[in-house]
Amino acid sequence: MNVFLAGGSGAIGVPIVRALVAGGHQVTALTRSAANEPMLRALGATPAVADALDADALRRVVVQARPTHVIHQLTALPKGGPRSARDLVPTNRLRTEGTKNLVDAAVAAGAKRFIAGSFALIGSATSDVPAEAQAAADAVRSMESQVLDASARGRFEGIILRYGLFYGPDNGMTQQMIALARRRMLPTVRGDRGLLPPIHIDDAANATIAALDHGAAGSIYDIVDDHPVSLSDIVRTIAESAGAPRPFAVPAWLPRLLAPYMARMFAIRLPLSNQKARVELGWRPRYPNIRDGLSGAASRAA
Ligand SMILES: NC(=O)c1ccc[n+]([C@@H]2O[C@H](COP(=O)([O-])OP(=O)(O)OC[C@H]3O[C@@H](n4cnc5c(N)ncnc54)[C@H](OP(=O)(O)O)[C@@H]3O)[C@@H](O)[C@H]2O)c1
Repeated sequence: MNVFLAGGSGAIGVPIVRALVAGGHQVTALTRSAANEPMLRALGATPAVADALDADALRRVVVQARPTHVIHQLTALPKGGPRSARDLVPTNRLRTEGTKNLVDAAVAAGAKRFIAGSFALIGSATSDVPAEAQAAADAVRSMESQVLDASARGRFEGIILRYGLFYGPDNGMTQQMIALARRRMLPTVRGDRGLLPPIHIDDAANATIAALDHGAAGSIYDIVDDHPVSLSDIVRTIAESAGAPRPFAVPAWLPRLLAPYMARMFAIRLPLSNQKARVELGWRPRYPNIRDGLSGAASRAA
């Protein structure tokens, strides 16, 4: 395959590049920054520098790469994760305008298949999405429907992968959470009834590679592990695997007061299944639960 990867320098982009290069495929990885070029070359990819919001520049680099497959992994979230709906505005733009630009560029380049990375917490949730997240939900729906509509019209074979929450020993967010847990600054929430779908970042990357080969055109797959957990379970597991002190528990009203958007998002109950991905993609998570996936996290974060 000759793959154009938009978001090639990101958290999931890097393991996807590694896996594709290891499989003998050609990869062009998009970044806005020339400073990322040496890193992408070292991984074995050809870097392409352009802003996905600049339709002409994006089209130029995609057409030049002549990809058979295009992967969309563009987000623009703050390093520590979104704290309010405002933090999602640049990502919403990438999911609406950026998707349009990438779909048009992929069609202009004659790509056969287009895979878009989506977010299960928003994409698969129905009634539970908090009002503050409505714009983000609309943007995710726009991204998904642009890809599925183009697929239905025969412009390419479009596939949506709705990933769970990324984590992993090398993942920046996980490492930040480990550092906070060590300082006892990462609390659990009393009576936390949330049910969230985690996914180890390497499992998410492998599912993406599997979808390039085996995904059915026009399909949506939930890429999640076998055991949905609450955010408090995630915090406890991170603290244990980092050898950090037992986290203290705060009453549910406190996060609702301090970080209402995050509190509502993480209270969502979303017990998703990976059955369809297992059957149709021939993929299964190597780490069936977050406890298995985090063994070894402490030494790496140190
Ligand atoms: N993190 C999660 O827990 C999570 C969960 C579910 C789904 N996802 C999905 O995973 C994918 C990416 O997430 P991630 O965690 O890998 O994100 P990330 O680490 O923040 O990476 C974002 C990527 O997007 C690129 N980018 C941002 N703005 C751009 C622009 N205007 N033009 C060109 N490139 C731009 C960045 O490139 P440069 O900075 O090098 O320009 C970078 O490669 C998305 O499909 C998202 O929906 C993430």
